Amino acid sequence: MMQDAKRIRFSLIILCFFLVTGCVRLTMSWADLTPDRPEATPEVLAAFDDQGRVLTTADWQERVPALRQAFQEHVYGILPDESGARIVDRRLVADDLLEGRARLEELTVEVSARFGEVPERAATFKLLLATPNAVKGSSPLILMETFCPNHNTIPHEGVSRPDTGGGCDGEGPMAMAVTYVFGRYIATPPLAEIFDRGYALATFYPSEFVPDQAGAGLSALRRFSDGHSDDETRWGAVAAWGWGFSRALDVLAQEPTVDMARVIAYGHSRYGKAALFAAAFDERIAGVIAHQSGTGGAALSRDKAGESVGEITDAYPHWFARQYAAYAGQEEKLPVDQHQLLALIAPRPMLLGNARRDVWSDPEGTFVAAQGAHPVYDLLGTSGLQQTDLKAFIPDATLSFHIRPGTHGVTEDDWPAFFDFLEAHFRE
Ligand code: GCU
Repeated sequence: MMQDAKRIRFSLIILCFFLVTGCVRLTMSWADLTPDRPEATPEVLAAFDDQGRVLTTADWQERVPALRQAFQEHVYGILPDESGARIVDRRLVADDLLEGRARLEELTVEVSARFGEVPERAATFKLLLATPNAVKGSSPLILMETFCPNHNTIPHEGVSRPDTGGGCDGEGPMAMAVTYVFGRYIATPPLAEIFDRGYALATFYPSEFVPDQAGAGLSALRRFSDGHSDDETRWGAVAAWGWGFSRALDVLAQEPTVDMARVIAYGHSRYGKAALFAAAFDERIAGVIAHQSGTGGAALSRDKAGESVGEITDAYPHWFARQYAAYAGQEEKLPVDQHQLLALIAPRPMLLGNARRDVWSDPEGTFVAAQGAHPVYDLLGTSGLQQTDLKAFIPDATLSFHIRPGTHGVTEDDWPAFFDFLEAHFRE
């Protein structure tokens, strides 16, 4: 009896939660669909540092290292002088995942970083690799990082569970609420369709090596970068998670089932920031899907709606170099802005996912950034951004922008767009 009363009370609380968030979802402001904001600055091909205007592809090749250096010094922090990755253990979890669709292996990866003269520091994380059984030979690979531990991304009882938990478990009201608010695919992507379309999927939980918490995250970052004396430019979690994509690639490059010419980095929100960073710094990444990546991702830092540099660096002091926080309220002093990060990914295909009511992640600022990056796609001889307004999704453009109704999260409306983009660029 007592138990029943408790259950009813709990269900009522959950119902109220759904009603309140439902109302919030309806009343949140809308992303303006006509960008009338000023263009992204500095102009992407303009003179920069001591370099003149970019006129040729050779000039752009010279610009790339200068921009990467500036993004490290002013936004994300400095990457290690030397990095390593190796598989220290591997285990077959299942060869018949999802009614025989895929083979699932769990690799234990040891990653190491050396900064300056201090000996390298290492950590391990688990990388799940699922390859479609129907494909003979190698498959294109979606490489993702997610908010939830691996056993949530690819649910199977044989997948290891990290000690750190992650709060994504269960079928209960909490899991239902998370899915209701953030969409059906927030934790688990549409696995069956991914494999049926012939894609392999590799995933890891970056909190295993740099926890997504201010205290634990900062101490993991400091431990790794002991040899880096300058606190202002010490790397933040977004750079380290982006670096994690590259270390995963180091080991995946040895897998015969993976087509290294067709690796697509995928991330949502904070991991969309990391996926963009990874693609900008690692040319082995053949394409990127950055969904609702917002500030420090695809949205401009200057002249922006939504989350400001001050807000993001206050709330998440472990995400960026401390230097980025110094530009709060004086973003115009930043020597680079995010359209230049997108330009570093050119000419590789990139999809920027957005939602109309997700104003916090600034879809309009993301569109203006894509427009700002376009001249580099053009210079390098690919289509770049073909759409002139936010709604005209063109998946086969190399710089593609998608916006759907609704709020922040990964929903049934997102993956069809992701698949259209993937099929347009990565189907052989
Ligand atoms: C917060 C944060 C965003 C981030 C998002 C997420 O809203 O302010 O910058 O993108 O979390 O990762 O879901």
